Amino acid sequence: MLTQSGTILVVGATGSIGTLVTAEAASRGYRVRALARPGADTSAFGDGVEVVHGDLTDSATLGDAVDGIDAVIFTHGAHQGSLAEKVDYGGVRNVLTALHGRPVRIALMTAIGVTKRSEGHDWKRRAERLVRASELPYTIVRPGWFDYNQPTEQRIRMLQGDRRWASDPSDGVISRQQIAEVLVTALATPHAQHKTLELVAEQGAAPHDLSPLFAALETDPATSLDGVHDTNNLPLPQEPSRVHDDLAALRRPRRSARTTHG
Ligand SMILES: NC(=O)c1ccc[n+]([C@@H]2O[C@H](COP(=O)([O-])OP(=O)(O)OC[C@H]3O[C@@H](n4cnc5c(N)ncnc54)[C@H](OP(=O)(O)O)[C@@H]3O)[C@@H](O)[C@H]2O)c1
Repeated sequence: MLTQSGTILVVGATGSIGTLVTAEAASRGYRVRALARPGADTSAFGDGVEVVHGDLTDSATLGDAVDGIDAVIFTHGAHQGSLAEKVDYGGVRNVLTALHGRPVRIALMTAIGVTKRSEGHDWKRRAERLVRASELPYTIVRPGWFDYNQPTEQRIRMLQGDRRWASDPSDGVISRQQIAEVLVTALATPHAQHKTLELVAEQGAAPHDLSPLFAALETDPATSLDGVHDTNNLPLPQEPSRVHDDLAALRRPRRSARTTHG
């Protein structure tokens, strides 16, 4: 479990969620390392945030970013289907590869409706499979529509099975700030481990403690690379061969890493 002195790498740190995750983690006293592309404006980060440059599409640039980290929060995204393989999926693969099987705690943000087939969703869902295959302790968070909530919609609901496929805010809404809080909290919450959830907010007050919400969720089955209760997911044998290669490569080091994790 992540301890208070741990170092968290934020991937996508300059983004709309990553900026808030970086600030939230720093405010809780963690050492925070922000991954930014060379030339990115990082002036908004506080003095305590270490900025490391790298490009998610090039694993050779990620060594400094993962050096000595205890946890990583993935909040990156390309917003274009054509770049989803390189960025949304490739970024996760490249960071996990750069770790060389070292045990770190992972929080991965994807999206509500991610199991509804589309090019962008497919690559995010494959990134989820990479994380599950790594056997590192993880939490996968699939948020609803960012900041479409009314101010009075702060009561957090965690769902499983990814049944909301309208692809509009009727699927669920949540503030960016609450997404950041859930991602950071997950890292230090034992009940959040090996769980996949859809994250939305409904009418009511924000919870004081997220732990009971995480505890009420089911763990992803150890025998599957999908979230518990996910349906209509692309069958594993139908994944492209390059995805099978990535899954196989990431599975090898995790067996030795598993013994060091509770
Ligand atoms: N909007 C919604 O309601 C909603 C709901 C659920 C999920 N999502 C998903 O959430 C994800 C993130 O959203 P967001 O609003 O935070 O996006 P954003 O503001 O565009 O942030 C994306 C982050 O990814 C980084 N990035 C992209 N390509 C990179 C690369 N090659 N190397 C390193 N970093 C790279 C960006 O860096 P730069 O600053 O250098 O570009 C930025 O930090 C998206 O994929 C989106 O699909 C959105």
